Amino acid sequence: MAAPISSPSSHLSRPVAALLPPPQVPGQPLTALAPMQDVTDLAFMGVIAHYGAPDYFFTEFFRVHAQSQPEKHILRSIDENATGRPIFAQLIGEDLGHLARTAAALLTHNVAGIDLNLGCPAPKVYKKNVGGGLLRDPARVGEILATLRAAVPGLFTVKMRIGFDDTAHFDRLLDLVNEHRVDLLSVHGRTVKEMYRGEVHYDFIARAVARARCPVLANGNIVSAARAAAVLADTRAAGVMIGRHAIRNPWIFRQCREQFEVERVDSNPLTGASASNQRVWVNALHQSKIFRPTLADVRDYIERLYRVTQTPELPERAHVNKMKKYLNFVGQSVDAAGAFLHEMRRAETEADLFAICDRHLLAAGAAEREFSLEPYPGVIARPNCETPSATTDGCSLETVTA
Ligand SMILES: Cc1cc2nc3c(=O)[nH]c(=O)nc-3n(C[C@H](O)[C@H](O)[C@H](O)COP(=O)(O)O)c2cc1C
Repeated sequence: MAAPISSPSSHLSRPVAALLPPPQVPGQPLTALAPMQDVTDLAFMGVIAHYGAPDYFFTEFFRVHAQSQPEKHILRSIDENATGRPIFAQLIGEDLGHLARTAAALLTHNVAGIDLNLGCPAPKVYKKNVGGGLLRDPARVGEILATLRAAVPGLFTVKMRIGFDDTAHFDRLLDLVNEHRVDLLSVHGRTVKEMYRGEVHYDFIARAVARARCPVLANGNIVSAARAAAVLADTRAAGVMIGRHAIRNPWIFRQCREQFEVERVDSNPLTGASASNQRVWVNALHQSKIFRPTLADVRDYIERLYRVTQTPELPERAHVNKMKKYLNFVGQSVDAAGAFLHEMRRAETEADLFAICDRHLLAAGAAEREFSLEPYPGVIARPNCETPSATTDGCSLETVTA
């Protein structure tokens, strides 16, 4: 199963207060909602918590430079966090003094810890040598880790990719993570140049688990609770971090907990089912214990998301367009032909949008139909992220889908 959450040997010199918050279900692997710019704000985290919170939340990144002050809208996600779960504040930057200053400012808020972004693949970001760009320069990463470690008395965490255009520095980066006593490492198993496309290199996540002294969260294409369990078994990671598939399926963290519980029963020698004649029973148990949302549940999710993202300043047309960015993901599991996606993209008003939802999610028996746990093959969210945009200065839904 997963590595222990906080191995005493790796924290001998750390105060007890720096131990990671425990998972909601004792003994289970951790779950985390991946930080996503323009997505993981106060409203979205509230919606996710409604359907089943992850163990940890991460803010989208606070930009750090000479003139920066922590962005107010991101601070709201910390100050007004009503999810009941801890939230880590993520920073992106490379200036040592300003990183330390910003970490100190954020530590006056109710954060679980400070997280450093070593992964953002947007060219406008990496060209400034921040985010994923830093992975080309392990010496600079070492200085930043040393600075932040000194500035953060509590939990200091890192989220990284496995390299910039290759993995030559990977082991060196992991050694730096150890040297600077990082408390938790999230690894998105792709290089910066691989953006969001192609296979995730879970073998590198397993390598991080073997080499890093802190717990590791496995990240990248974890499409379902079953996939989460398989990735944990393959990598021995301490938990999973899930991004786009939580936008598609906000029940995924609840389903992970249910899946982990079933796996625990399964692996218990007294109740487990290693004999082949028991496998059928175990499969049935798996299916019955894991919540299967219907399309009516999805209609409820969309309505909730619409209400919480509504603000007096946001014109209706812009609000509908904002909704399409989430629905690009949701639509991947509504119907195999992508008909909902096709129609949804043409909505211009709230009335249009909900009429389309009603047609596809409630009418003619649709309400009772199951929402697919994994995206239907070939149903692609748009615009797709295969083409890096030189103009976007972050990881926004404008450029990043699936
Ligand atoms: C819209 C969007 C915004 C993102 N913003 C951030 C960010 O602010 N910080 C960060 O570390 N990663 C960011 N990421 C990367 C995700 O945290 C995650 O590593 C990536 O999406 C792979 O996980 P997934 O396959 O579960 O989505 C972003 C991803 C998306 C799709």
